[in-house]
Amino acid sequence: AGEKTPASSRGASRRVLMFPLPFQGHINPMMQLADVLHSRGFGVTVFHLASNPPDPARRPAGYRFVPVGVPADNLLPTGSDADFAGALLRINERLQAPFQDSLRVVLEEEEERAAACLVVDSNFRGMQVVAERLGVPTLVLRTGGAACLVAYMAFPALCDKGVLPLQDQSQLDMALGDLQPLRLRDLVFSATTPHETMSTCLERIVESARHSSGLILNTFNDLEDADLRKIADGASVPVYAIGPLHKISTGAQSSLLAQDRTCLDWLDKQEAGSVLYVSFGSLASMDQEELVETAWGLANSRVPFLWVIRPNLVQCSEKVGLPDGFEEATRGRGMVVSWAPQQEVLGHHAVGGFWTHNGWNSTLESICEGVPMICRPHFADQMINARYVQEVWKTGFELEGKLERDKIKIGVTKLFDQAEGEVMRQRARDLKNKATLCIKKGGTSQTIIDLLVNSIMSF
Ligand code: UDX
Repeated sequence: AGEKTPASSRGASRRVLMFPLPFQGHINPMMQLADVLHSRGFGVTVFHLASNPPDPARRPAGYRFVPVGVPADNLLPTGSDADFAGALLRINERLQAPFQDSLRVVLEEEEERAAACLVVDSNFRGMQVVAERLGVPTLVLRTGGAACLVAYMAFPALCDKGVLPLQDQSQLDMALGDLQPLRLRDLVFSATTPHETMSTCLERIVESARHSSGLILNTFNDLEDADLRKIADGASVPVYAIGPLHKISTGAQSSLLAQDRTCLDWLDKQEAGSVLYVSFGSLASMDQEELVETAWGLANSRVPFLWVIRPNLVQCSEKVGLPDGFEEATRGRGMVVSWAPQQEVLGHHAVGGFWTHNGWNSTLESICEGVPMICRPHFADQMINARYVQEVWKTGFELEGKLERDKIKIGVTKLFDQAEGEVMRQRARDLKNKATLCIKKGGTSQTIIDLLVNSIMSF
């Protein structure tokens, strides 16, 4: 953890207001940032949806949680094929008025512990506008990687050139010049969202960065140096790369689902580096056929595995389940849980590989533990993250095309049993070392956190 810097050195303690996007992959890094700022002496006020409350018992004194009332209907979509961009625009619209009410009340109440600023998720341009109206400076937290934001920034120019929207499937593998190693397919963020909606959504994200007093990214210089420089040039605001946040924060959990910790006992009994951890994050989904192929792929690979099947992983009206014979075929060699303590799992000595959907948190958590990846991106930034794992960091490879048991078996064998996998493992260890160094005293992320703290104190 970082050194204590006296945020209260100017008399009254300062407070930072925070509003995460109400999804697991966004709540985690925002709460980790909250912990980092709290450890530097700031009071923290977290806004949250009334339907999506964090657990105050998991946080120390100095935290405050403020519900933002919304109409009861469901604002949060689930499943890989949901129109997330459309939902994000609707959430922004619907939350503005209730958030303005809540923010006003908080500002009136907190005269003594003056609110320095509001940190919003980069998908919350609407909430940033509210803060601007009420005269509160904003910082924006981008919970994804730098490469992804660079691609979002380039999106309008690609549309102007007529490269996007995709005209023809034959162009999917077109290289994207400055965005190398990305291909056009990596920028087709959703199969269901109309192009206009996607454009507006990405525009708002970039706008939020440009309108902020500073952009915070959960990444680190040694990982994404070139892309961070492009962002600093394009955004014209201070850029703070202060990740990996989960390694700097106190480790207090903000999981919305209960984590099954028995899998750690099971991992204790496995050989070092032998287990494949399989998880697709909090939103990605698969159909029943894919579940069956995954099950047999894992069974046939003969590698020990820990597989997270969350309650809504399979989007299906009928009862879903693992195929007959799977349990017998994998007895003693596999464990299935509905939600895992992922960071601890990835840090466990028994885990030797991660089959992931490449949400940014999962990607970064894997990098920090030196675990090589089998990548199976579903939507949004995940394709970009997977591409970087394969082509830039070279710590894994993508499992492309239709999900089939033989393909899975070949992929798992490549990672665990072949020389190619060993090379990836070595590179993953090297990246882990870099991640470890940047959060030490004098490391880049720690130094940038100092700058961020000074900047907040100056608001
Ligand atoms: C979403 C998007 O899908 C992702 O692309 C974007 O980068 C962030 O928001 P999500 O799909 O949930 O996130 O993936 P990810 O970013 O990997 O976040 C999942 C989080 O849940 C991670 O912090 C992971 O540690 C945690 N997790 C996951 C658990 O605690 N237990 C599990 O069993 C699985």
